[in-house]
Amino acid sequence: MFTCALLGYGTVGTGVYRLLVEKKQEIQRRIGVDVVIKWVFDRGFRRTKEFPLPEGVMTRDPEVIFNDPDVDCVIELIGGLEPAKSYILKAIRAKKHVVTANKAVLSHSGPEIWTSAYENLVAIGFEASVGGGIPVIKTVRESLVANDVSSIVGIMNGTSNYILSKMTKEGSEYAHTLEDAQRLGYAEADPTFDVEGFDAAHKLTILAMLTFGQPFSSEDVYTEGITQITPLDIEFAREFGYRIKLLAIGDKGPQGVMLRVHPTMVPETHLLAQVDGAYNAFYFVGDEVGKLILFGMGAGQGPTASAVVADIVDIARMTRERATTSMPFAPNFTLDKSATTIPKIPVTSLVSRYYFRISALDRPGVLAKIGGVLGEHDISIESVVQKGRGKKDAVPIVMLTHEALEQNVRSALSIIDSLEITMDKTVVIRLADLSNVG
Ligand code: HSE
Repeated sequence: MFTCALLGYGTVGTGVYRLLVEKKQEIQRRIGVDVVIKWVFDRGFRRTKEFPLPEGVMTRDPEVIFNDPDVDCVIELIGGLEPAKSYILKAIRAKKHVVTANKAVLSHSGPEIWTSAYENLVAIGFEASVGGGIPVIKTVRESLVANDVSSIVGIMNGTSNYILSKMTKEGSEYAHTLEDAQRLGYAEADPTFDVEGFDAAHKLTILAMLTFGQPFSSEDVYTEGITQITPLDIEFAREFGYRIKLLAIGDKGPQGVMLRVHPTMVPETHLLAQVDGAYNAFYFVGDEVGKLILFGMGAGQGPTASAVVADIVDIARMTRERATTSMPFAPNFTLDKSATTIPKIPVTSLVSRYYFRISALDRPGVLAKIGGVLGEHDISIESVVQKGRGKKDAVPIVMLTHEALEQNVRSALSIIDSLEITMDKTVVIRLADLSNVG
C-alpha cells in the first residue's frame, strides 16, 4: 500500500482525488501497488459537493498529516508561496515524498526544496507545475539529459493563449474573454498572474533550471503580459502574416542565457501559431536530438490531475522497486552545484525585429520625423502602414523593422513618445526569430 495525503481540495485537488478513486484498480493492475488517500486537508472544503469525501478523511489540521507515520507521500495543491512552501519542507523533513503542482514555489525556492529532498532521501515530483498534462518535466529531466539544449520556446500559459486565440478568432475585446477562461478553470486564483506573464515566467524559470543546470529566479525573466494587446494589433498582425502569442523563451548562446516572456508575432505558417485555446506547446532545440515539440492541454482540472497522478504513481512504483531490490533510494533530482555559472543576459541586449504601433497626428512631415529618430538609433524600417485619416485625432502608424538592438529601440521610442505629434505610448511587439527552432 502507498499512502498519500492531499493538501488542498480545490479544482486540481478534487480532480486528483476523483482520478485516484476512479482509476484505482487500473493503477494497481499496472504497478502492483494500492494507492490510497488517507487524509485531505483544506481550510474551507468548498468543493466537497463536487466530489464528496468519505467520513474520517477530511482534516483542517495539516500537522495531523506531517505527524502520521503511515503517510508516504504528501501532495501539495494549495498553490501560492506560503503556507505551501513551509508545508512542502515540513513533509520532506518528516521523510515523506512530495508531489506538487506549485510553479510559484518552485520558481522561487526550487533549489532549496530540491536540496532538502536530496538530503532527506525523498522523491519530489512536480510534473504538473509546468504544462498541465504535457510530460515536459519528464522530458527535460530524463529524455534530454544527453543534450546541450540551446533553446526553449513555449506557449506556457493556457489562459492568455485562450484569450489571444479568442480575440483573434472573434475580434473580441480582452476583458470579456478573461471571464470565460476563469469559468473553465484555466486561470490562476489571481488571474493577473496569467495575463501579466508571471505564470509563464515561473514555468520558464523551472524549465531553465532543469535545462541549463543552474539556479534562476523569475526576476531573471524579462516579463510582459498581454493586457496592452488590442484587436487592432491582432488585425495588423494578421495583415502582415503573423499571429500574436505570449511566448516564453530561453536562449543559450556563447554569451550566456536570456530568459523572456512577452507577446510575440509568430509567422502564421509556423506550428506555434496554430496552437490555440488552452493548449500549450514546448519547443526544444538540443545538439543531439535536434528540434522537439510537445503539445497538449496546459491547464484545466483533468490534464493537471493527470500529471499529478503520474508523479504519485511513479514514486509509488519506485518505492515498491526499492523494497524488492533493497537498493538505496535514489533521490530523483538535485541541481548540480558544480555546474559552471552561465552569465545571465539582460533583454536590452536582444537583437530582434519589431512591430511598432505609433499613435500620431496625421500631418505632413510626421512620418519623416519618426523615421529620422529611428534612423539615428540604427533602426531600419521594413514596412509602414497608416490606417485612417484625421487632422485632430491620432491615427495608428504601424511599422515592422529589420533587426535592431532592444536598447536602441527603447531609447528611440522614449523620444518618439515624447514628441508633440504622438498621442499615446507606442505599442511594441517583438517578432519571433524561429529560424533555429521552426
Ligand atoms: N493558469 C495556468 C494557465 C494553469 O492558464 O496555464 C496551469 O498552470
